[in-house]
Amino acid sequence: MKTRLIDPTAMAVKDLHQYILGAVAPRPIAFASTVDSQGIPNLAPYSFFNAFSSNPPVLVFSSNRKVKDNQTKDTLLNIRETGEVVINAVNFAMMRQMALASIEYPAEINEFDKAGFTPLASDLVKPFRVAESPSQMECKVKDIITLGDQGGAGHLIICDVVRIHIHEAVIDDRDRIDPHKMDLVGRMGRAYYVRASGEAIHTVFQPVTDIAIGFDQLPESILKSPVLTGNQLAEIAALTALPSANALELLLSEPDIADFLDQEDGYHALHQMAANAIIAGSVDRAAGLLLLADRMHHQ
Ligand SMILES: Cc1cc2nc3c(=O)[nH]c(=O)nc-3n(C[C@H](O)[C@H](O)[C@H](O)COP(=O)(O)O)c2cc1C
Repeated sequence: MKTRLIDPTAMAVKDLHQYILGAVAPRPIAFASTVDSQGIPNLAPYSFFNAFSSNPPVLVFSSNRKVKDNQTKDTLLNIRETGEVVINAVNFAMMRQMALASIEYPAEINEFDKAGFTPLASDLVKPFRVAESPSQMECKVKDIITLGDQGGAGHLIICDVVRIHIHEAVIDDRDRIDPHKMDLVGRMGRAYYVRASGEAIHTVFQPVTDIAIGFDQLPESILKSPVLTGNQLAEIAALTALPSANALELLLSEPDIADFLDQEDGYHALHQMAANAIIAGSVDRAAGLLLLADRMHHQ
């Protein structure tokens, strides 16, 4: 496949930034609430963000120097002064308002007011929580790591989570967060966002203790299937064993399948049938059909 080669040292930072944003996406958004030493609130979104430890619970986000003038941002300044931040999640209902809070208002302007969010007092830190946000994490800043001194350089803000508030409405009857109810948004490149609910959510069960056979154990004819996609091949490779000879005999006792073996397009038809079986959730059956096709391949 033709690839575009990028030397990060030989490209304008604004362009490099967009390649990074497009390739490392979607990113969760930390809606960071801070206060300055006078207690004036500040609210801004940060998508160079993730969780990095559960025990202790640690979140990290990065506040970058502005590319245009190399200035640092109010969030970083406030955190340097107070050592505290509340990281609020951003869901679809808040998306457009959140974008307003990214405007470079002067430090003394309260983005809660500008973007129309409701401040809620925190329990253990001074910055306010965003009432509309489905999860609000009160944090004490453990460390700040400076990554450079030029425009675009990040400051990793490493946050110990000291208290978590989650809207009851997004918790299911097994005490887990329901992603459809959380309805989070992720940031991509340029003006693109993604909504993580509904059809955007896919379920992949992959028990890590079941030792799967893997792609390298699949017969060549299956790997080169004219029908199966990479995701469908992965379903076969995720089996712990290919079907036994007995299982294949059982399949052959189904008249339709036995007929395929004598037909000219039977090979393709078996692969198509296997793809349908995978879609229907019958992966073992699909593997059996593919092995029968493999026999035809070798005849
Ligand atoms: C969705 C979104 C994500 C953003 N992510 C970052 C980021 O990770 N790092 C950063 O420095 N700026 C990021 N920005 C830009 C800041 O929000 C923007 O510079 C803001 O004015 C900073 O506010 P502050 O000076 O009050 O901290 C992001 C903007 C948006 C809309």
